[in-house]
Amino acid sequence: MTTQQHADTPIPFDRPTAARAYGWLLGSKDNFAIDREFALKTLEAFPEALDVARQNRQFLYRAVRFLTEEAGIEQFIDLGCGLPTNQNVHQVAQRFNPRARVVYVDNDPIVLAHGRALLADNDATTVITADFREPEAVLEHPDTKRLIDFSRPVAILFLSIGHHLKDVDDVGKGAHYALRHIIDDLAVSGSYLAVTQVASDDPAVGAKMSESFNAAGIPWQTRTPAEFAKLMEGLEPVEPGLVNIRDWRPDPNQPPLDPVPPQLEPYEGAAKRNLQIYEYGGVLRKP
Ligand SMILES: C[S@@+](CC[C@H](N)C(=O)[O-])C[C@H]1O[C@@H](n2cnc3c(N)ncnc32)[C@H](O)[C@@H]1O
Repeated sequence: MTTQQHADTPIPFDRPTAARAYGWLLGSKDNFAIDREFALKTLEAFPEALDVARQNRQFLYRAVRFLTEEAGIEQFIDLGCGLPTNQNVHQVAQRFNPRARVVYVDNDPIVLAHGRALLADNDATTVITADFREPEAVLEHPDTKRLIDFSRPVAILFLSIGHHLKDVDDVGKGAHYALRHIIDDLAVSGSYLAVTQVASDDPAVGAKMSESFNAAGIPWQTRTPAEFAKLMEGLEPVEPGLVNIRDWRPDPNQPPLDPVPPQLEPYEGAAKRNLQIYEYGGVLRKP
């Protein structure tokens, strides 16, 4: 495993980060009071957010298992990989195919620090610090060139990421370009995109959520399912299509996640009662 440390990327302590706040919902201890306060504020407005985050992480397992076992994919680029937890992409993929190779990408320096420890003796994986709004930075990285062979099918993962990509942004060329450049312009036919994003059927609810995250310094655009599906035009969703990912090939026997932190237990199961927001997406094949 190799990593690239960006000396100019300090860990932000004065604002929450998506990696740390989301990681807490999955049971990670690598977060600060400011992240937990932001997560609790989000849960006050959207109590189902805990279940939704955990459903997304369970989808990750089922999607990577499908890609490895059924689609025969051996190489993965996981964009916005987040803090390591149990059942990380390389662990799931290498369980079903020991030859699987994984490039992890995140722009939060805490992810690099923890990824380095996790991947220390795994030559088939790497974690690099890059902004996925500029996919060229990922593609030009020497580790991507070493591990990914674009003459063979590849899986591009954007899990719980679509909402971090705005239609128009001040860094890259917008959500469509970021989500589609690698799969459309570089990947061969038979490659896959696995992608999820926080969605709401009610644009007013979505706008309220976007406002709260953007105000906290986390770029965010909640979309309706129709808006998200438009970003995926031209790719072929595998069964059951683009759905609330809780309903994507559910498997009651899949490995459990780490326990919910005690402070968050009151929110467990809230998605059964209240579903203003949910994680929408699926797995799509490049024809
Ligand atoms: C909600 S977490 C999702 C983690 C993981 N993909 C999963 O599904 O469990 C979002 C992750 O995207 C990362 N992220 C957000 N914006 C990013 C950007 N512009 N470039 C790279 N990573 C980014 C955050 O640091 C965070 O780790």
